[in-house]
Amino acid sequence: MNYPEIVSQLTLDEKIKLVTGYGSWHTYPVERLGVESIMMTDGPIGLRKVDEGESESHVSVCFPSGCLTSCSFDKELLEKMGEALGEECQAYEVGMILGPAINIKRSPLCGRNFEYYSEDPLLTGELAASYIKGVQSKGIGTSLKHYTMNNQEYRRMSYDAVVDERALREIYLTGYEIAVKKSQPYTLMCSYNLVNGEHTSESKRLLTDILRDEWGFKGAVISDWGAVHYRDKGIAAGLDLEMPGNQWANKDFIKSAIAEGSLTIDELDTCVDRIVTLVKRVKKRPAVFEFDKDHDLTRRIAEESIVLLKNRNDILPLKPDTKVAVLGEFAEKPRIQGGGSAFINCYAVDVTLEEMKKAGSVIYSKAFPSDSDKWDRSELDKAIECAKTADVAVVMAGLPDSYESEGFDRTHIHLPEGQNILILELTELGIPTVVVLQNGAVVDMPWADAVDGIVEAYLAGEGSGTAITNILYGAVNPSGKLAETFPRKLEDNPSFLNFPGDGYNVPYAESIYVGYRYYQKKKMDVLFPFGFGLSYTSFLYDNLKLSKKNMLDTDVLSVSVDITNTGEVSGKEIVQLYVSDHGDQSGRPQRPVRELKGFEKVSLEPGETKTVTFELDKRSFAYYEERISDWIVPSTEYYIEIGASCEDIRLSESVNVEATKTVPLKIRPDTVFGELLRDPRTQKYTMDNLINQQSSGISSFPPEAIAALMDHNPIRGLRNFGNESAERVEEIMYELKTLVHDTE
Ligand code: BGC
Repeated sequence: MNYPEIVSQLTLDEKIKLVTGYGSWHTYPVERLGVESIMMTDGPIGLRKVDEGESESHVSVCFPSGCLTSCSFDKELLEKMGEALGEECQAYEVGMILGPAINIKRSPLCGRNFEYYSEDPLLTGELAASYIKGVQSKGIGTSLKHYTMNNQEYRRMSYDAVVDERALREIYLTGYEIAVKKSQPYTLMCSYNLVNGEHTSESKRLLTDILRDEWGFKGAVISDWGAVHYRDKGIAAGLDLEMPGNQWANKDFIKSAIAEGSLTIDELDTCVDRIVTLVKRVKKRPAVFEFDKDHDLTRRIAEESIVLLKNRNDILPLKPDTKVAVLGEFAEKPRIQGGGSAFINCYAVDVTLEEMKKAGSVIYSKAFPSDSDKWDRSELDKAIECAKTADVAVVMAGLPDSYESEGFDRTHIHLPEGQNILILELTELGIPTVVVLQNGAVVDMPWADAVDGIVEAYLAGEGSGTAITNILYGAVNPSGKLAETFPRKLEDNPSFLNFPGDGYNVPYAESIYVGYRYYQKKKMDVLFPFGFGLSYTSFLYDNLKLSKKNMLDTDVLSVSVDITNTGEVSGKEIVQLYVSDHGDQSGRPQRPVRELKGFEKVSLEPGETKTVTFELDKRSFAYYEERISDWIVPSTEYYIEIGASCEDIRLSESVNVEATKTVPLKIRPDTVFGELLRDPRTQKYTMDNLINQQSSGISSFPPEAIAALMDHNPIRGLRNFGNESAERVEEIMYELKTLVHDTE
């Protein structure tokens, strides 16, 4: 305990009030003991400070959403954004900002993807850690949310994410783990949903065993707003603060749980102490922030993040004297943020059309609305006539607000029909066409091959109009890269068959194969791969060096690579390091083709070379081995791949890694599979439930081992496996081999 002297003086009622919040946005004050009340506000891209009893929030600066900032792959930039937000919190007397939001983008349909960072856990975790570091450097708390498996909005309060342990660890927990270990957020916010049958707000395993005991989390856990079911169970599990304040509803519940002995005073005191600690960690001080300075920072962050996806024949950058037809109402009314709790009452919005008029020769036609998917043939015709008089058409396209928000998911990934029709018709007429996209998540692009340029601006915050203009006209060289894969069509996405579940359960049947891990394993053609983005200059990758050719998994491997700007203008390159398991994977858990294990953004003048370095440790090579609940590095050859995207590997070197820990041969009786194999009467392992497919493995086992095991009819029951996924059968075969060896 950090504050035993305070906790010991609190009455039971005060303790209950402290773990139950105070109104919508505060913690409960106990003035007689010097425990202040702190205010928390949403996040994550600006302050949504709402006074108690009010619904409208104070004006503040709207930064780009997570869908865009993640494309910067720039840890320093996220830290700067965090610092600015921390300073704004100080000025607004807010003690904690409810962000960052880091759920993995499992499906492009998730309504909150615009808030989240990526399909990749390493990128997610590193960027979150930087954001947290920035905010907390100002003495202000953060709330890393929504822990965990809140990967959809459909029935978000009640669905049960049914996920295997390997996917949970490798994909869905790793981002939180990195952020917790690197930056110790003051709080984590648990999600609404259940994970494998248990509400996260009541999961001791998630809130205590993994979060605190394994990762060393020192902060407090707060509930998402209304995520508490049984408060006493939550307290016992490690949920310190229920939000919003529901002061007395839970009082008797907690008291009777204590009286009955299902909750102990010690468990309650532990949560109370964490709340007191949280309040004491917040360091309030007088501050002012300059709206204009932060507004300018939003623009710069957007400029560092916007992704150039296509640039045929260098149609971009536009020249000041190029006659440009700007089409689409997004030019006048940019879509800069998503809806729901992340919505910011903006300070000032840069309008793209006005900025473009300052930069070059521009004519405009509204073409289609920005706030709906209704469209009108005559407006499209006017836009086409307008484009015919210009050298280039720039279509400002995007998703209306009603398409994506907290609270619901999309049902498709199309742009409004009128936009697609206009773009295709422009290209059919041979009009050079650039599409600028303002959307919170993946869209399909039936016109991708036909257009000349594509700029993905996502939801770029209040400086977006200037940032987009600066990219289009080359005042800024684009340097963002995609933090998510753009599939060719929704049906290609690995979660397609199981999203959004049956209303109760959401099977995460694709397991670890999320995003590029899936598309690459299936050798699927995608529209734009993870990590992809173009520049107005070019980069040469050279001189990849590894510090070792052979290593133990406990060693650290240093990697260096030289990057040269071979073009005419200065630019920034995002250098990505992937690790690829090149061993024979038969008989052991399968692995993705490659996984991101490092990234750096490097700024280069024309002709300049810089050396980028990375350090890889055991975790960079490991997968999560469910049977021993630990990370395991198979002893084998790995490729260290340096790429400009996950599909554009420029250099590769191999290293042999030897495991210091292997899967013990003895099967653990408490594994699911162990249970399957046990004969309930004799408690001996049998082949009863196992295999009806001698061809796929059993025949390769030593005959004595088979004989030793087959004391019952080997066929009975094994037909069940006809319904299992290939991966599961693989796993089962692997378990069987382990068992057979053990028996030998
Ligand atoms: C959202 C959180 C948000 C909270 C408070 C919830 O509905 O899921 O992200 O911080 O409301 O507004």
